[in-house]
Amino acid sequence: VSVWAIVVAAGSGSRFGGDEPKQYLRLGDKRVIDWSIAAAREATDGVVLVVPPDRVGDAEPAVDAVVAGGGTRSASVRAGLDALPADCDIVAVHDGARPLATSALFAAVVDAVRAGADGAVPGLAVTDTIKRVVDDTVVETLDRSELVAVQTPQAFLVEALRGAHSSDADATDDAALIEAAGGTIAVVAGEAANTKLTHTRDLPALESIAAVRSM
Ligand code: C5P
Repeated sequence: VSVWAIVVAAGSGSRFGGDEPKQYLRLGDKRVIDWSIAAAREATDGVVLVVPPDRVGDAEPAVDAVVAGGGTRSASVRAGLDALPADCDIVAVHDGARPLATSALFAAVVDAVRAGADGAVPGLAVTDTIKRVVDDTVVETLDRSELVAVQTPQAFLVEALRGAHSSDADATDDAALIEAAGGTIAVVAGEAANTKLTHTRDLPALESIAAVRSM
């Protein structure tokens, strides 16, 4: 079974502020995306890195292919799919902006797909109470026992993911597209440290964990 990873790192980081996209900032002894790539490499046969169009010429020796992303995350994933080798069976899609996912987490989602699911995602139980709100007014309180916060890496049968993306739809994760197509998505235990670098305030917590892992 041939397993590849797509690391999507083509976002402009508009919520983050600053000139440098967040995924190119330094975290410990390397860039944010280098952490993401390293974890992906350890658990797969090859890695496709999706970058902003103006960075597609940059040397990225740790990956097998570098391609330009699109205007949305889903478009960037589709660009990555187009660069996979024909013999790839399972693909793990990972946010470049989640530097602290472990290779064990990649292995866990891939194993769940090997076991028969169309896809698999890491999920963490939510500790806050979640309410649906419209116009600053609560519409309903959701049953927390049924909710998980979903992370990447997310693994899929390549054919299922290609099919789900064939409509050129946009979603905040890939699993949602497979769900919409009636596919089965398994949930494995997520990792508390696997947060997405979204705001400047997220950096210190990632830095302290990265410092320990660099030792
Ligand atoms: O914007 P968001 O935080 O959901 O981005 C998640 C991941 O998707 C990030 O690693 C980001 O670089 C990537 N992305 C992308 N192409 C886009 C938008 C986001 O590769 N057009």
